[in-house]
Amino acid sequence: MKAIRFAQTGGPEVLEFVEVDTPEPGTGQVLVETAAVGLNFIDTYHRSGLYPLALPSGIGLEGAGVVVSVGVGVEAFAVGDRVAWTGVLGSYAQFHVHEVADLVSVPDGVTLETAAAVMLQGLTAQYLVDDTWPLEAGQRCLIHAGAGGVGLLLIQMAKAKGAEVFATVGNEAKGALASAAGADHVIEYTDVDFGDAVEALAGPRPLDVVYDGVGAQTFNRGLSLLRRRGLMATFGNASGPVPPVSPQELSANGSIFLTRPTLFDYIATREELAAKAGSLFEMLVTGSLDVRIGERIPLADASHAHELLEGRATTGKVLLIP
Ligand SMILES: NC(=O)c1ccc[n+]([C@@H]2O[C@H](COP(=O)([O-])OP(=O)(O)OC[C@H]3O[C@@H](n4cnc5c(N)ncnc54)[C@H](OP(=O)(O)O)[C@@H]3O)[C@@H](O)[C@H]2O)c1
Repeated sequence: MKAIRFAQTGGPEVLEFVEVDTPEPGTGQVLVETAAVGLNFIDTYHRSGLYPLALPSGIGLEGAGVVVSVGVGVEAFAVGDRVAWTGVLGSYAQFHVHEVADLVSVPDGVTLETAAAVMLQGLTAQYLVDDTWPLEAGQRCLIHAGAGGVGLLLIQMAKAKGAEVFATVGNEAKGALASAAGADHVIEYTDVDFGDAVEALAGPRPLDVVYDGVGAQTFNRGLSLLRRRGLMATFGNASGPVPPVSPQELSANGSIFLTRPTLFDYIATREELAAKAGSLFEMLVTGSLDVRIGERIPLADASHAHELLEGRATTGKVLLIP
């Protein structure tokens, strides 16, 4: 089978499309033929070495496909079942062996591509509005990179809660997507200081919560926009990691709460994963959540996909197709 591997950290060019043995499922495992792989920003952190992995390594955490064989003792899944996963390293591959506990069933009415598109970014948007800060009607939130994979889903979920959504985007076309997803105010932060724009619209320190996946370039200005006892949820580093913060800064900004969450602490048990994925799929089946698949790129061109993602040239979800 074909898969992407890398033996050293670096730019997109370190990703190699190689022939490897098709694995066989052991006890309690199943072999899945991958229909679509989800590209995520975390894949670039693994590749660059920002989040170190033991090398050589596979890459990619998310996908969906069909069970093609099952190991001894597997009762939960059978050949032909449609399944999806997140948090499984090595997902950039035609076939992958999975622990049963890592898989969820994809219901009728959700395509495998859509399932692959929402497992990581959708579950992230969901925990951010449900758990990290249970967003309430009338609250004001700021969502950076509003036309990105997480961004478009987060805007829709925040609007469904009745929040007032401020979204930042890198250009006008992305602004149109963020507006269509429901953002009340869209700010092109490459042209203007986003903080000035938020304050011009809503006055000083108007925000209850900032959802910041951009990191280094936006963190400090975001802190200055939070109301007393508001929350800074810094959940990513698209522009680089946030430098160390002194607790005193949180006090000086109005007893701000600061969290640096990761999805995998919100789906740490099989029960949590199944329940959260179930409610996410339900939103898709009922049409209350729309997923934009911005690009479908052959798995062989994974390095090109990384270039596009890091070059801010993508919108919504990028899928890699084996
Ligand atoms: N902690 C978690 O649980 C978790 C889970 C999923 C994702 N994340 C994080 O959430 C963020 C978004 O992830 P995603 O996969 O949905 O990616 P994405 O938003 O589709 O792509 C990243 C976007 O960030 C913006 N950006 C701003 N400055 C950038 C820069 N210097 N270089 C590259 N991009 C820049 C760009 O949008 P504009 O052009 O509009 O600025 C770009 O399109 C990432 O930081 C990711 O690590 C965290």
